[in-house]
Amino acid sequence: MTVTDNYQRPIISLRISITNRCNVNCFYCHHDGILPQKYEMTPDEIHRIAQVAHSIGVRKIRLSGGEPLIRDDIKEIVSKISSIGFKDVSITTNGTYLTRYADELVESGLNRVNVSLDTLNPEIYRFITKKNYLQKAKDGIIHAAKAGLYPVKVNMVVMKGLNHDEIWDMFKFCQENDAVLQLIELLKTDNCPDNGFIDDYHYKMDDLEEKLANMADKVKTRRFMQDRKKYFVDGGEIEIVKPMDNTQFCKNCTRIRITPEGKLKPCLLRNDNLVNFIKPMREGKSNEELKKLFLEAINNREPFYEQCR
Ligand code: 5AD
Repeated sequence: MTVTDNYQRPIISLRISITNRCNVNCFYCHHDGILPQKYEMTPDEIHRIAQVAHSIGVRKIRLSGGEPLIRDDIKEIVSKISSIGFKDVSITTNGTYLTRYADELVESGLNRVNVSLDTLNPEIYRFITKKNYLQKAKDGIIHAAKAGLYPVKVNMVVMKGLNHDEIWDMFKFCQENDAVLQLIELLKTDNCPDNGFIDDYHYKMDDLEEKLANMADKVKTRRFMQDRKKYFVDGGEIEIVKPMDNTQFCKNCTRIRITPEGKLKPCLLRNDNLVNFIKPMREGKSNEELKKLFLEAINNREPFYEQCR
C-alpha cells in the first residue's frame, strides 16, 4: 500500500528530525523543522512514528537534525527503526562524530549516510560552521565509506564566491573516498536566519548543469527523488539538488517530515500546515487514529512552487 497525495505524488519517504541540537552553527541552516527550544522525542516515540509511517506505505526513513549523532541514544533509535523492515534507513550528519560511530551504526542496521561538507578549506569551513572540525568531518566520510555505509553521499551547498570554485576538488575528494557528490542549491526558508545570506551567496546552478551534461558519459533523472539529475563523470557520480522555483522538484517530491517537537511537516518550505502528531500520541491515541494524522498531513501537501499545481 502506498498513499498518494492530491497531486498524485506517492509518499514513500519520511524524514525524522530527532533533535534540534547541533555541534556546528552554519550561517544558512534551515534547521529542518521549527525552533528554537530544545526538542527531542524518545526512542520509543520515534519507533512508533516510524511504525505508523510504515503501515501507510512509507519505505524509506532518513534521520536528520540538528545533528542526529549528538544524541547518546542514536544507536537505540537506529536499531528500533531498522527492525521495522524499511527498504532504506539513512542519516544526514555533519560527519564530525562518524569516526566514532560508523561501525556501531552499521551494526544497528543503518544503511547509508549523507554527510554535509561544503568545503575542504579550513578557513572557509570555520567561516560557514563557526567550528574547526574540518578534519573530523573528512575523517568521518572516509570512515563511513570503510564501515560499509555505501554509498556515502557528500552534501555540498554551493555558494557564490565562497566555495563555488571548489566543486572539482570536492569531486576528486569524493572519488578518492568512494563517495558520491551532491551539489545543493542554497535556499532561504522561513526557518533560516535572516542575515541576508541568500543575496550574498546564492549561486545559480544552470551553467554548471550544462557543463556537467556536456562532460557526462551518462545522465540519469531520478524520478521519485524530486526529479534530480545524476551525472556520471570520469567514473564518479555528481547529483544536483535544485529546489528553488523548480516545479519538477515539487512535482516529484515523495517526502514528508516530522519536526523535533513531533509535528508532521508536509513541505520543507512551509510552516503553516503542520499537523501535531506527538501530542495525540502522548494522549494515548490508537495506531488507527495516528494513521489518520499522517493522512491529514499528506492531504495538506501542495506543490510549493505553484506552477505545477
Ligand atoms: N540551503 C540549502 N541546503 C541547506 N541545508 C541546510 N540549510 C540549507 C539551506 N539554507 C542542507 C545542507 C545540509 C543538510 C543538513 O541540509 O545540505 O547538508
